[in-house]
Amino acid sequence: MKNLLNRLNHNVTKITESPIRIFDQKISDIPGLIKLTLGEPDFHTPDHVKMAGIKAITDNHSRYAPTPGFPELRQAAVDFVRERYDLNFTSLNETIVTVGASEALFASLQTIINPGDKVLIPAPYFGLYRSMITLLGGEVVEVDVAESDFILKPEHVQEVLDTHGDDLKAVLVNYPMNPTGINWSEEDAKAVALVLEDKEVFVISDEVYSELIYEGHHVSISKYLPEQTIVINGVSKSHAMTGWRVGLVFAQEPLLQEINKVHQQLVTTINNVSQYAALAALKHGQEDAEPMRKAYQERRDYLYQALTELGFDVVKPTGAFYIFAKIPAHLPQVSEDFGLDLATHAKVGIIPGSGFGQAGEGFIRFSYASSMEDLQEAIRRISEYFDRLSPKG
Ligand SMILES: Cc1ncc(COP(=O)(O)O)c(C=O)c1O
Repeated sequence: MKNLLNRLNHNVTKITESPIRIFDQKISDIPGLIKLTLGEPDFHTPDHVKMAGIKAITDNHSRYAPTPGFPELRQAAVDFVRERYDLNFTSLNETIVTVGASEALFASLQTIINPGDKVLIPAPYFGLYRSMITLLGGEVVEVDVAESDFILKPEHVQEVLDTHGDDLKAVLVNYPMNPTGINWSEEDAKAVALVLEDKEVFVISDEVYSELIYEGHHVSISKYLPEQTIVINGVSKSHAMTGWRVGLVFAQEPLLQEINKVHQQLVTTINNVSQYAALAALKHGQEDAEPMRKAYQERRDYLYQALTELGFDVVKPTGAFYIFAKIPAHLPQVSEDFGLDLATHAKVGIIPGSGFGQAGEGFIRFSYASSMEDLQEAIRRISEYFDRLSPKG
């Protein structure tokens, strides 16, 4: 009996499927469960965007698109990020269109990582980062930022530079953040940029939640490090288009050309229908995110207050649609155990913090991309469950 599984790429055997998906599947069959698990907008894609997709089909856009994406879409993408976030990109040759932000991340990482290279990631972090870096033979340098309200500080970066020197290939930042919902201020971005500006270190800045900010505005670190930053974005979260699979990479042209070579090997190009839909979103849908942002903000306000009243310690999120709550001290501190208890006995599904790296242990993540009714019912159930655990009086 041949055992070909022993002959796989070793890096593949080091990774698992997404812990978020694994936990979600584990609890999904619990009857009557309210799921606040996945990071997926509960809104529909705006109608004008859907119509553009339908038109692309009836207009017979059925041949290969150029590898980097249709020029009109790329121009709309650079215009969008320049107008809304004052980014430095002007030419359509500074962006490519990818299969979601996920492929954008993978193509970018594969372009820069050699085996053994180190990548700094502030933790807790979105799980795909670690698995992608591991798959490429790189090493993750996890920096626990829980103590600084989940914000990466210049001292953190300096410490990693002092320890790893030239082995540090990149710093991967994400704000507004998954899983904490915390956003960086202009000062935060400037401070980290200052440490990196004279270093030959890439910055990958995952900005997929840039349209979902509740206080302040989005300031990309690429404004301060234009030569070394690769910006990742897309329409999945901003325009409720997760299933259309459209992401974007922005970088200066010589670097982007290299990323485009990798993108070509991975997928040749993305599908035409989604490109036309994304064109409508970016060209005519600058305000599409606004009603969703307002609804998320109301839910954040509700959930933040309710969880705080229930005894969870929470740093108030300023963006995205997640709340990362510290499990109260008298409850099981292993987040997976607590998550299973909550799903089984309170019928509320969350994601254990351990799914976001060791620094997430002791926390749970609520996604509030769910109706207000579901959030209110979830809180009622958790409150009842807590009462059952320690009856008053
Ligand atoms: C921080 C972050 N980056 C990237 C992605 C992937 O986005 P996409 O669905 O466009 O591939 C997600 C999805 O949850 C995310 O939370």
